[in-house]
Amino acid sequence: ATQGACPFRGTRIGGAQGSEPSLDHWWPNRLKVELLNQDPPQANPLGRDFDYAAAVEGLDHAALWEDVRAFLHQPVDWWPSDYGHYGPQMNRMSWHSAGTYRIADGRGGSAEGLQRFAPIGSWWDNGNTDKSRRLLLPIKLKYGAALSWADLMMLAGTVALEDMGLPIQGFAYGREDAWEADRGTYWGPEGWMGKAPTEVPADPKAGRPDQMVNRGLRWQGGPKDEYYDLENPLAASHQSLIYVDPEGPGGNGDPMDAARDIRETFARMAMNDEETLALVAGGHAFGKSHGAVPADRIGGAPEIAPMSQAGLGWHNPEGTGNAENTMTNGIEGSWTPHPTRWDNDYLINLFKYEWEQTRSPAGALQWTPVDPDAPKTRDAHLDGVEHPLMMMTTDLAFKVDPEYRKIGERFLADFDYFTEAFSKAWHKLIHRDLGPTSRWLGPKLGGTFIWQDPVPDVDHPLIDDAQIADLKVRVLETGLSHVDLIAVAWASASTYRDSDKRGGANGARVRLAPQKGWAVNDPARLDRVLDELDKVKAGFDAEGEAKVSTADLIVLAGGAGIEAAARAGGHDVTVPFVPGRTDASAEWTDVESFEWLRPVVDGFRNHVDAAVGLHVAPERLFLDKAALLKLTAPEWTALTGGLRVLDQNAGGSNHGVFTARRGTLSNDFFRELVSPDLEWRPQSEAEEAFDLVDRASGQTKWQATRLDLVFGANAELRQIAELYAGAGGEEMMIRTFVAAWHKVMMLDRFDVADARKAA
Ligand code: HEM
Repeated sequence: ATQGACPFRGTRIGGAQGSEPSLDHWWPNRLKVELLNQDPPQANPLGRDFDYAAAVEGLDHAALWEDVRAFLHQPVDWWPSDYGHYGPQMNRMSWHSAGTYRIADGRGGSAEGLQRFAPIGSWWDNGNTDKSRRLLLPIKLKYGAALSWADLMMLAGTVALEDMGLPIQGFAYGREDAWEADRGTYWGPEGWMGKAPTEVPADPKAGRPDQMVNRGLRWQGGPKDEYYDLENPLAASHQSLIYVDPEGPGGNGDPMDAARDIRETFARMAMNDEETLALVAGGHAFGKSHGAVPADRIGGAPEIAPMSQAGLGWHNPEGTGNAENTMTNGIEGSWTPHPTRWDNDYLINLFKYEWEQTRSPAGALQWTPVDPDAPKTRDAHLDGVEHPLMMMTTDLAFKVDPEYRKIGERFLADFDYFTEAFSKAWHKLIHRDLGPTSRWLGPKLGGTFIWQDPVPDVDHPLIDDAQIADLKVRVLETGLSHVDLIAVAWASASTYRDSDKRGGANGARVRLAPQKGWAVNDPARLDRVLDELDKVKAGFDAEGEAKVSTADLIVLAGGAGIEAAARAGGHDVTVPFVPGRTDASAEWTDVESFEWLRPVVDGFRNHVDAAVGLHVAPERLFLDKAALLKLTAPEWTALTGGLRVLDQNAGGSNHGVFTARRGTLSNDFFRELVSPDLEWRPQSEAEEAFDLVDRASGQTKWQATRLDLVFGANAELRQIAELYAGAGGEEMMIRTFVAAWHKVMMLDRFDVADARKAA
C-alpha cells in the first residue's frame, strides 16, 4: 500500500473525522432528524447552570457603555479607524447581524450572534465585519461571560449611533450566544442575489473546489430567476443574503430595479417603506464604502482563510491591507461630507445633485455628482486629500421610486421626524427577534411597541393548586369534549417559534384576529370552546381574589383534556400547570405580522395548506416545525402519535388516526405504524396519501399521509416508533407525550425561570 493511504490516518485534507464523503454526501436528501439536536449543551462551555440573565444583572452597565464609547475613539494600528471613529464600521456590523432576520420563519437576526460562524460570517456581504468583531475583543474579554457576543455586537452599533449624535430609544440585553454554526437554516443558494461564482479557483487546502463556496470573490451574472421565482412558502421567507446588491440586481446599475428589490427584501425583514428608507438613509449618513483594491486580489473568507490569518478572512495584500487600502465591498467613497456626525446631508445631497455612473478603483459601479462644486469629503486617513461624494445604485433608488421619494422628501423637510423614524426603526431592527419583553434585560429598555407583541402584566393573585384542580373539574363539566379542549390548547400554544420567540399561548391571541379565523384552528369549534371557557372564567373570577386569565384557562383545560384522555386508557397522569399568562388586546396585536405565524404545514394536526403549492416534501416542514418548537426527536414522535389518536387532525380527517378508540391516549398509532402486516400503498405516484392495506385480507385498514408515515419510514424516527410500540412502550410514550405537551405550553413563559432553563 502507498504510504499514508490508510483512510483513518488521514492526509492533510481527508481521512480524519468529518472528512468527505460521509453520510450527508452519500444521501444528501435524507431527512436530517439530527437537526433537532443543534447547539446542544455539550457545545456550550458555560454549562447548564449558567444564568445569563443573572450575569447581565450584575454588569456595571454605565461603565460598559462608557467602555464601548471610549473604544470608538481609540484607533489601533492593525486596523485603524476611518476618520478616527469606529462608529460607522461597528454600526454596519451590527446592522448585518440583525439584518439576516426574516419574518416568515423568524430565523436569522442578531439573537444568537450567528455572524461569528459560517455561512453568515463568511458571506461576501459580511466582508470585514470580522475585523469589527475582533476590534471589540478587548471589551468582550473584560466582561467575559456576562456579556454575550450577540449583545456586544448590537451594543456596539447602538452606542456608535448615540455617540455620533442619534438619540436612541433604548437598548436591551438578553441575546444568548450560539456556540456552533447553524446547520438547519435554508438561506437559498449561498451567494449574492443567487448569482453563481464566476470561477472558484481550486485550492487544495481550502476544501472542495466544486462547492458553491463564496471565497470572497465577486459573484457575477447568473440566473436572476433563481431569486425572483420564489419557492413557496420557503422563499417568500428565505433570502440568500442580508439585503440587496448595492450595484442593482445582477449589478445592472438600475435604481428602479434596485428599489423593487429593496422593498421586497426589507418587507421580509418586517420593515415597511418608511422604516426601510429611515434605516438606509440613516445608516448611510455615516461612514464609507471601501473599494481600493480589485476583488480578485482579496483572500478567502474567514471559513477558508489560511490558519495564519488567526480566524480572520479577506486578506488584503495591498500595503498595510487596511486604512486607505481597505477593500470590503468594492464601491469607494462616502455619502456625506461629515461621515461621523448625525445630520441630514445624505438626503440633502441625494436630492440636490444629479448623479452619474462611475467606477471605483476596484471596478465597482457607483455614482458621483455631476456638479464639480458639490461638497467633498476629506479622506478617511490621508491629510489634505479630498474625494467627491458617492452614492450607490441602491441609494439612487430612493430618488427615482415615487413612493420612496415621497418619504424621502418628508424626511428632507423635517429632520426631527426623520431622526425619530430612524431611531425607532433601529430599535425595532435590533430587538425584533429578542422575543417578549420578559426576555429583555438591562436598565434602558425603551418604550412599548406593537412589534413586541406585548401582553399585560399580571395584576391579580394567581390560582393555587387547589383552584387549579377545581378549575380542571369545572372545564370538564362544561360538557365540552376533551378532544375539543385539547384542540384549542394546541391551537393556542403551537404558534410558538423559537427562532424569534414569537407566538405561544401567553396573551391568548388565539381568540383574536387573525388566529381565530385560521381554518386550521376550526373557527366554529374555537368559538364554542371559548364561549364555555368564558363562562367558567366569569364564574370563577367572581368568587374571590384570585383570577384566571383566558390564556391560562385554555392551557389548563387542554391539560384536563389530556388527563381525561389518559384515564380513558387506564393511565393516571397529571399534566403540570403553571399559571401566570395574561390576555393580550386586539389593539396591541399586529394582525399582519401575526399572519406570518399561520402554519403552512402543521404535521401535529396533519395539516398541509394546499393553497400554498409546496415545493418541499411536507415532512421537511414538519421537521422544521418540530425544530421551532424545540422538540427532541422522541418528543416530536410521542406528541404526533398521541395527537393522532386524540383525534386532533385539522378538518377532522382520518389520516393517521390508527385507532378504534379515538380520544383515548394510547400507543395505537405506533403499533399500527410498525406492523409488518400492513402494506403501505400510495394513492398516487406523488406518494402524498396512502392506504394501509391488511396483507391477509386485502382490506384497507387505515389511511395516512407522509406526515404519519415518516415516523415509520425514516430510520431514526422508526427506532423511536418501534420502542413506543413494544413492551412497556405505551407507558414510556405517554410519559414523553405529557412532558412534551407541557413543554410546548411553556415555551413562551420566559417569565418563569425554571421553564426557561428546562427548555
Ligand atoms: C456601508 C450597502 C443598508 C449602515 C455600506 C456599504 C455597502 C452598503 C455596499 C459599504 C461596505 C464597505 O465597503 O465597507 C447597503 C445596502 C443597503 C444598506 C445595499 C440596503 C439597501 C444599511 C442599513 C444600515 C447601513 C439599513 C444601518 C442602519 C451602513 C454603514 C456603513 C455602510 C454605517 C459604513 C460602514 C463603514 O464605514 O465601514 N452599506 N447598506 N446600511 N452601511 Fe449600508
